[in-house]
Amino acid sequence: METTLAHGANSAAQPLLQVDSVTLAFGGVRALSGVGFGVQPGSITAVIGPNGAGKTSLFNTISGFYRPTSGSIRFRGQDITRIPAPQRAKMGLGRSFQNIALFRGMTVLDNIKLGRHAHLKTNVFDALFYMGRARREEAELRRDIEERIIDFLEIDHIRHAPVSALSYGLQKRVEMARALAMQPEILMLDEPVAGMNREETEDMARFILDVRAEWGVTVLMVEHDMGMVMDLSDHVVVLNFGQVISQGVPAVVQADPEVNRAYLGSGNVDELRAKLRAAARIPTSAGAAA
Ligand SMILES: Nc1ncnc2c1ncn2[C@@H]1O[C@H](COP(=O)(O)OP(=O)(O)OP(=O)(O)O)[C@@H](O)[C@H]1O
Ligand SMILES: [Mg+2]
Repeated sequence: METTLAHGANSAAQPLLQVDSVTLAFGGVRALSGVGFGVQPGSITAVIGPNGAGKTSLFNTISGFYRPTSGSIRFRGQDITRIPAPQRAKMGLGRSFQNIALFRGMTVLDNIKLGRHAHLKTNVFDALFYMGRARREEAELRRDIEERIIDFLEIDHIRHAPVSALSYGLQKRVEMARALAMQPEILMLDEPVAGMNREETEDMARFILDVRAEWGVTVLMVEHDMGMVMDLSDHVVVLNFGQVISQGVPAVVQADPEVNRAYLGSGNVDELRAKLRAAARIPTSAGAAA
């Protein structure tokens, strides 16, 4: 097993996250086969692919919910393949879920606090430490972070609302807030704009860009909205049947005939082609919403 190079190893040439030859099988189903790619620090990297391609499985493997059958995952140069999910979250891998996983009966604020809480309770020593003298400082720091997040995501007006009363778009935003409360170095978003209308999508696109610009967070996202993917991403990884069939800058992926072919079976190839060609520019400045 490789030893860690620790925090100083994060040079520009080294990816912040490196997925190498990852294979994941569920019984007879091979959800991932030899998947490899890197996420550069400060980048927005998108994983795309038809339904069932293995995108969520890949996310679950990176965040530690699934253990790969073979292959490795490195974060900041350290092999994290055998590190449990809560520990990975604590190390700086924060995420949201494809199907919203908020506590619907709880308020927005309480849901956001949970992100931080989960972060703290990862081991008993942390919990003891938390109960000790550092508790008050920690609570203040936490409040400060929560306030910054609420302000940043423009959800102040709903902070005391139960999540169940919110629109889908706002719930997705609260999920992002909770992921940010974990103070991630890499924010992993599984379909951040799925089911959103155009205005909500534009808002989310702006938040993703701002998270990187203002918070210095690296973003790894799974997304079906091609306009958004092509507009926001520095690097795009295309999965099909659990394999990487193309990757590179958006222009390279867009021009790759393999990518169009992969979507042939998904029933919406014309729509996808149109989207790829148009590569609709998403207005990111305020007031640009239609
Ligand atoms: N927990 C599981 N047990 C068994 N099979 C699974 C499990 N999770 C995923 N799979 C299978 O792995 C394959 C990839 O599924 P996955 O959810 O990763 O695809 P996806 O790319 O995220 O699709 P979508 O775009 O619909 O979200 C599918 O064949 C799926 O049925
Ligand atoms: Mg999925």
